[in-house]
Amino acid sequence: MILVTGGAGFIGGNFVLDWLAQSNEPIVNLDKLTYAGNLETLAGLQGDARHIFVQGDIGDKTLVAELLQTHRPRAVVNFAAESHVDRSIHGPEDFILTNVVGTFRLLETVRHYWLSLGDEDKAAFRLLHVSTDEVYGSLAPDAAAFTEDHVYEPNSPYSASKAASDHLVRAWHHTYGLPVLTTNCSNNYGPYHFPEKLIPLMIVNALAGKPLPVYGDGMQIRDWLYVQDHCSAIRTVLDKGRLGETYNVGGWNEQPNIEIVRLICRLLDELRPRADGLSYATQITHVTDRPGHDRRYAIDARKIERELGWKPAETFETGIRKTVAWYLAHPDWVANVQSGSYRDWVSHHYGASVAA
Ligand code: NAD
Ligand code: TYD
Repeated sequence: MILVTGGAGFIGGNFVLDWLAQSNEPIVNLDKLTYAGNLETLAGLQGDARHIFVQGDIGDKTLVAELLQTHRPRAVVNFAAESHVDRSIHGPEDFILTNVVGTFRLLETVRHYWLSLGDEDKAAFRLLHVSTDEVYGSLAPDAAAFTEDHVYEPNSPYSASKAASDHLVRAWHHTYGLPVLTTNCSNNYGPYHFPEKLIPLMIVNALAGKPLPVYGDGMQIRDWLYVQDHCSAIRTVLDKGRLGETYNVGGWNEQPNIEIVRLICRLLDELRPRADGLSYATQITHVTDRPGHDRRYAIDARKIERELGWKPAETFETGIRKTVAWYLAHPDWVANVQSGSYRDWVSHHYGASVAA
């Protein structure tokens, strides 16, 4: 049994689906179901006894302690976070509450549980904290990609709150011996991605005939990784990672935003041409830049490859094609997210089986 937090979000949801597709080890999934939590992503697991969903906050020490005592997981994987940079600029408080205070409380609750375990279980226990490359700040165009030793220079309220959580995780290992692992991953894309982030927003807006808002000159660079590759990296680190270590995870795939948007337009032109015969690229609009916008992220993922043998399976060409095809094949998922009705999923489809 493992405990996953934030398992109704984009990456956590993909992780839960992947995990249960590959193993019979059950998952307790603790998620607060903020706007970003979508149980419809996990609809295929309804009635599956290997998935126990619990609605709740990682900062709720009583609830988390109860879950740990009841289910006695061998590991905790912490995905739960506020994750959208633009939201963090408009309203940073939730980022501090969940990413900093929530992580702190989770660490404390997990530490007390870990201390109560017998020697064998204690030695085998792991807490894996899922973090981001954004903690390292922005790279100059010709600078080397981020290694695990890169200085922390977060620039947005989001990245600062994630940096703070990484520091807490590190300190709980050094001070209390808590057996932790941290992954710092680059931008993910793939199925079930909430359409406030670049790639799903562009697909969904294009299909709806809306403008495709590119911030500033669109030359900001991100290093995109297919979400299932991130999931396999997390499984690998959980399995084989050295205690207290951090592992950078990336796709060796740096792309300027404008190129990503143009590629999405080309794929849609091919797979779902506009009725008027024009390219979706005509919908591209340059809008005011994000304040403090980081120009470039790039991950050096050699450590995880060298030490643990992990490499991404997907190329960007195959991954982005799969992603566009997934959005075209799942209009209901998109419509429910856009109308907000995905938020009714809990009461409609889970009813009393969801502990709150
Ligand atoms: P997301 O916003 O899609 O999902 C976050 C999930 O956490 C949601 O289901 C939400 O309901 C839940 N949550 C939020 N606050 C909570 C709380 N206090 N208690 C319990 N659950 C809570 O985010 P994501 O894109 O899936 O990211 C998951 C993790 O991976 C985050 O920690 C993020 O920082 C990290 N990360 C994301 C990316 C990316 O490109 N999306 C890249 C690297 C790292
Ligand atoms: P985003 O998906 O929000 O991820 P992050 O900010 O965590 O990297 O944005 C990815 C890049 O795309 C980032 O440089 C901002 C840019 N962007 C746009 O140009 N337009 C948009 O509408 C969005 C949401 C993002």
